[in-house]
Amino acid sequence: DPEDRQYTIGFSQCTGGDAWRRQMLSAMKGELLFHPEIDLQYRDARGDNAKQISDIRDLVKNGIDLLIVSPNEASPITPVVEEVFKMGIPVIVVDRKISSSFYTAYIGADNYEIGKLAGSYVSELLGGKGKLIEIWGLRGSTPAVERHKGFMSALSGFPDIDIVHEFDGAWEIDTVKHGLGATITQAPAVDLVFAHNDVMAYGAYEVFKESRPDNDTKFIGIDGLPGPAAGIQLVDDKILSATFLYPTGGEEAIRTAGRILKKEHFDKDNMLLSTVIDPKNVRVMKLQTDKISSQQADILRQQEKINEQVNAYTKQSVLIYILLASLVAT
Ligand code: FRU
Repeated sequence: DPEDRQYTIGFSQCTGGDAWRRQMLSAMKGELLFHPEIDLQYRDARGDNAKQISDIRDLVKNGIDLLIVSPNEASPITPVVEEVFKMGIPVIVVDRKISSSFYTAYIGADNYEIGKLAGSYVSELLGGKGKLIEIWGLRGSTPAVERHKGFMSALSGFPDIDIVHEFDGAWEIDTVKHGLGATITQAPAVDLVFAHNDVMAYGAYEVFKESRPDNDTKFIGIDGLPGPAAGIQLVDDKILSATFLYPTGGEEAIRTAGRILKKEHFDKDNMLLSTVIDPKNVRVMKLQTDKISSQQADILRQQEKINEQVNAYTKQSVLIYILLASLVAT
């Protein structure tokens, strides 16, 4: 019962519709099972900065004890996050950053490092020579900027690798299909497409398959989600040459929130690990993530059973009480 809960956490998500964000939320909910004292209020800004600002103001009005935020774009969201922080409400930033240090804790993987890993991987895959297209995530969001910088730094030693075309795919498959569909007929032959996430890499793959069915262009993405049509499966199906794991940090965010609320020790900056997923390890990754998913489903089922039993017990206790009371009365 939310009224028995001691703490309320507000979670302002920049956009909620994609598989990666759904995984983040379900990881949070899984961890919340261990924190019955915490109530979570969730808001999805649907990729709209103005909505995210008003979502955050609403959550504060509702009296939250802590804010978790994944900012859509850094500059427009920074002032309201600073406001909240300066009111004395702890703020945990996840995945996308704000542009100041007025936050309590940050949780996410190192996007510069991931970009660099991708760049080294690409240079090896192309044997140091080739033409490529880079598809950016939303330019105002920090993972896009950092992935690009890391990628460029890894490629700086390879003068024969050329980025012949680049554009903002806004993290979304439809943007990529429109953006690439228009230019692909004029675009020079490319050896590889590097997209800042798997969803966009898959969009590019589909456009290429349609308009250049005999191409042997390679596709690289980031996220490495489990599940049908997601990154790990796409690598296993040889649609992507590789992807790089980008953990959501959902579980860690709730754990850190618990520590902050109980005034226990926590670290301000928490870096989650990444790794390449390619044909060499994709089977192992698939086995492991499938196993984890089925264990998570088991935990949820057990939780439901426990809830059912608690309900049944409560009902029985009430019946026994009524029975006893009527016996005493007669
Ligand atoms: C999901 C997503 C991921 C990407 C991350 C960057 O909304 O686009 O695919 O890695 O956000 O913030």
